[in-house]
Amino acid sequence: MLRRREFIQRAAIAASLLGMPLARAEALGEITVDNPPMPPASLFASDPARYWAELRRQWLLASDHVNLNCGSVGCTPLPVLRAMIEHILSAEEYREPAYPWFGYDENERIKQTVDALAAFVNANSDEIALVRNATEANNIMANGIDMKPGEEVLMTDQEHPGGYCPWDVKAARYGVKINKVTLPRPPQSVDEVVELFERAMTPSTRVIFFSHITTATGVILPAKEICAVARRHGALSAVDGAHAIGQIPLNMHDMGCDFYGSSPHKWLMAPKGTGFLYVRDERTKDLWAHTATANWNNYDIKAYRFSWIGTSNLSVMVGLRAALDFFNQVGPDRIYARQHELATQVRDRVLKYPNLKTVNASKDEFYNALTSFEVTPPLPAGTTTGGLKKAMDECAARNMRVVGDATHMRISTNIFTQPTELDLFYDALDAGLRA
Ligand SMILES: Cc1ncc(COP(=O)(O)O)c(C=O)c1O
Repeated sequence: MLRRREFIQRAAIAASLLGMPLARAEALGEITVDNPPMPPASLFASDPARYWAELRRQWLLASDHVNLNCGSVGCTPLPVLRAMIEHILSAEEYREPAYPWFGYDENERIKQTVDALAAFVNANSDEIALVRNATEANNIMANGIDMKPGEEVLMTDQEHPGGYCPWDVKAARYGVKINKVTLPRPPQSVDEVVELFERAMTPSTRVIFFSHITTATGVILPAKEICAVARRHGALSAVDGAHAIGQIPLNMHDMGCDFYGSSPHKWLMAPKGTGFLYVRDERTKDLWAHTATANWNNYDIKAYRFSWIGTSNLSVMVGLRAALDFFNQVGPDRIYARQHELATQVRDRVLKYPNLKTVNASKDEFYNALTSFEVTPPLPAGTTTGGLKKAMDECAARNMRVVGDATHMRISTNIFTQPTELDLFYDALDAGLRA
């Protein structure tokens, strides 16, 4: 670990190069050297509310802003920032051997990150490629799978552009066909969802592509069962798990998917620009390289082929490793439970309004930390007035970040979210719907 003076000097130099005021550089030095201590585990047992309040000191979040959209881009805690910043600074000393970056040869730091990640999602280390985000992983899948004109991919009507656009390109360029199931809002049972996929399969379906947790509505889809549908029909399963890591437990081998991509910068609170692609061992040779350089066809290195992307940022991957450590230190089960507890509070409060309905939180199995609701009866898509428009304005007036428009809202609650912040949201909702 760097000593305080050494760190401040380095931060000041780095900051001056970036045009950052010296005071900010020194503050950065203070913050990153002197992380506030973690609350003791015993506090959780005696006073959980205080435990979560004290844990909040691990984030830089401004006290005059409320972030209830930490699902789109997560909030990274100080120990993770520190690990990343220290690596940025120390890497420039060029003490590390040979090639101290990410994007070509594996080095010890990459190995450690991959091993920790593989253990976290129950995969083999050589089934994991480090990439920049779920969008990149989805593109590798869509571009890498061989398909003939007329062959079909089945997806849902609720995919994110980073999920469906790679397939749109493939359809426009190579004539593959895209079919979509319309998901219920909200689903009532796992069987209902699985049945939709089962019925939509055709003899030409080569791939099922779906979000493990849907983007706008936050529905957790029954991934294991959907992958089983694909397998029964001789199709591949490709899962967009952008929102899943850090929000629900993941087990690649148990899920039985062929390909899986995710964005740990969201719920795992890793640095922005970190992602991973899982390629099931038996599928190693079934994906063409997306970005090609040396090793594009070296199947001996298995999924690590897809981390050969040219020079990239190892410091964020060091931060990813630190994010896994932080998450494991707080405790995954404790985190998932807290996320769900807060989301349930939001859901219950929202459902007090007779003109609002949940689009995901019909049952525990369909949501964890995202609460998504819409006006009922639904307003036509694209409606810009009425409905929730005034509530959105009230949120903005309170410096509150939420996803939504007149028709729909999505609230993200993570472990740094404070009950007082949710009170402010209820206040905005009340004011907006009263107006
Ligand atoms: C389901 C889904 N896929 C992909 C993405 C894109 O994520 P990223 O920008 O990290 O690639 C998102 C972002 O919210 C998402 O919700």
